[in-house]
Order: sequence, then structure tokens, then C-alpha cells
Amino acid sequence: MAHQVAVIGGDGIGPEVVAEALKVVAAAGVELATTDFELGGARYLRDGTVLPDEVLDELRAFDAILLGAVGTPEVPPGVIERGLLLKMRFALDQYVNQRPFTEPAKGIDMVVIRENTEGTYAGEGGFLRHGTPHEVATQGSVNTRMGVERCVRYAFDLAQQRRGHLTLVHKTNVLTYAGDLWQRTFDEVAAEFPDVETAYNHVDAACIYFVQDPGRYDVIVTDNLFGDILTDLGGAVSGGIGLASSGNLNPDRTSPSMFEPVHGSAPDIAGQKKANPLAAILSAALMLDLLDEGAAADRIRTACAAVAAQLDPSGASDGPRPTTTPEIGDAVADLL
Ligand code: NAI
Ligand code: MG
Repeated sequence: MAHQVAVIGGDGIGPEVVAEALKVVAAAGVELATTDFELGGARYLRDGTVLPDEVLDELRAFDAILLGAVGTPEVPPGVIERGLLLKMRFALDQYVNQRPFTEPAKGIDMVVIRENTEGTYAGEGGFLRHGTPHEVATQGSVNTRMGVERCVRYAFDLAQQRRGHLTLVHKTNVLTYAGDLWQRTFDEVAAEFPDVETAYNHVDAACIYFVQDPGRYDVIVTDNLFGDILTDLGGAVSGGIGLASSGNLNPDRTSPSMFEPVHGSAPDIAGQKKANPLAAILSAALMLDLLDEGAAADRIRTACAAVAAQLDPSGASDGPRPTTTPEIGDAVADLL
């Protein structure tokens, strides 16, 4: 039976790259029944709405959500991020943000598991005496035992299915309350996974290792803010923004998970067929993992790696290189 997928193309290059992702999924032989939702910066500019509660309720009925990118330069910062992306993550309890990074030439094959519903992004805090010389702004970090534990448990499970190594990244030496909760939870869950070897890095040290020795990592688990920053670095050291994919997962399947490339709507190249669709295609592969279509997902990843090698200007590949967005999508589809 076809999987029911809500598609949010969004703004800028979003619809262009999502079209290629859907083309590739079809070429891999997986049947999707898709429904388009018009959300993002363009909608906000037209009627002032971002993610109405009725639309959120409609989304709950789907097996998964595939998103291109949302946001345009005319929309003030924060409106779409908090009103759409964060609202969806929180309301649909997508508590794991999973971002894989591979770069065979550098020995990189790692997955970052970022806690996706708590920490400094929970929205705790406020202003006092706003706009005055005595203004105070606080932005607290919310860490619940339940929230940390379910995320850590997911990461151990994933590490066990991979190479059996999990690193906790935090800043336990300075963030002594939140860090203590994370470390204790990590140690307690570790006892249930005797086959998984564990390590701990402070987040600043992890930044060095990401650049100088990323081959040491298999799975990393970290909080929301550290994970946001570390995954941009992960993208930068492994093939760039054109390849970085992500899943916002509700592993308990109480509501749909959402899959999106890490990049934004790239207004500078929108409509010019210059966007690299591989990040969106790899995000669709993550979606297929969740839809229990892992074999098709693996075939898509293999095809993407081959096409990424063709695109690499320093690579050994001769023959014609695909250049436009649809040509790259076709090249992946042809390999399937
Ligand atoms: P961006 O990721 O859209 O673009 C940064 C640079 O990377 C640009 O030079 C762009 O041309 C290039 N780029 C991005 N994706 C590419 C691709 N697939 N192929 C080739 N080049 C690519 O980030 P920026 O410029 O900071 O944000 C633009 C808009 O996107 C803003 O409105 C921002 O709020 C929104 N945004 C949305 C995100 C989302 O939907 N999750 C994430 C990040 C930004
Ligand atoms: Mg980010």
C-alpha cells in the first residue's frame, strides 16, 4: 500500500529539490500517495498565516512529512523558524533530530542525534524592563529526565545497529546541572547496552575532532543547541550543504516524522536549476528508513554517493557531469 506523505515544498529552491526527491523515490520502486501543503514564507506574506492549528491537525494523519525549505528574505527572522519548524517539532513530538554525515575520502561515517524538543530551544525565558537601560533577558535551558532519556536511548539503539560506539557531547564542566542530568542518564542507559562502547567529549573539543579526526565517531548524542551548531560543522567537513540531510523523528510513531535537507531556501539561486537536490534526496532516503523501506533507502544512498563523486570537480570521474537540478535527480534515478 502507498505510504501517505505530506509534501511541503516551501520557498525558493525547496520545491525544486523536493521534486527530484520524489522522482528518485518513485525510481526506487516505492509508492507514495502525496498531498501538497502550501506553507512557508510566501504564504505568510500573502495572508499572514504560518502553521494554523487546523493544518497541523491535518498533518497528523500522514505517515511522514517531506519538506524542502521554508523562509524568504522578506519575512522577519524567527517567524517561520519558531512558527513552523519548531512548532511542528514540538507539536508532533519529533524529539530526535538525526543527521548523518559521510565522506569516504576522509573516513567520515557518523550520525549526530540531537535532542529536538528541549534545551534552550524550548522557549523558556523572557524580558524584564524590555527596551529600557535596565533590560533583562533570560533564556533558560529545559532538560527533563524523560526527554533526555528517550533521546539517549534512541542513540544507544542506533549505535548498537551500527559500529557499536556512542559519544556524549556536552559541556558538563561548566553546565553542571544540565550536564549532570545528561551524564547520569547516559551512564544509566549505557548499562543496558553492554555491547556499545561509550565516550564523552566537551563540545568545544568535539569541534576540533570534527575537523581533525572525525573518523573517531560513529554515533554522537547531544542537546538541542550543541547539536544545531555541531551539525553545521558536520556538513562543512563532509561534502558541504548540498549533501546534508536530516530527519525530525518521532520514534514512538505517535505522530508523523518530518524529513528535510539542512539547507535553506537559497533565494540567490532559486528558479535557476542550480540547486543540488542530493540533500533532499538523502532526506527522502531517511524517510524511507522510517517507512520500513530500508532496502530502497540503501539503494538511494549508494546511487547518491556515486553521483556525488561525479559532481566533485576534483574527482577522477570523466564523462559528462550532470549540472542542473533535474539532471542530478535524473542521474540518481537512472542508477536505480
Ligand atoms: P541557505 O542554506 O538557503 O543558503 C546558504 C548558501 O548556500 C547560499 O549561497 C545558497 O545558494 C547555498 N545553497 C543552499 N542550498 C543549496 C543547494 N541545495 N545547492 C546549492 N547551493 C545551496 O541559507 P540562508 O541564505 O541563510 O537562508 C535563506 C533562507 O532560507 C532564509 O529565509 C532562511 O530563514 C531560510 N532557511 C530555512 C531553513 C529550513 O527550511 N529548514 C534552514 C536554513 C535557512
Ligand atoms: Mg541550524
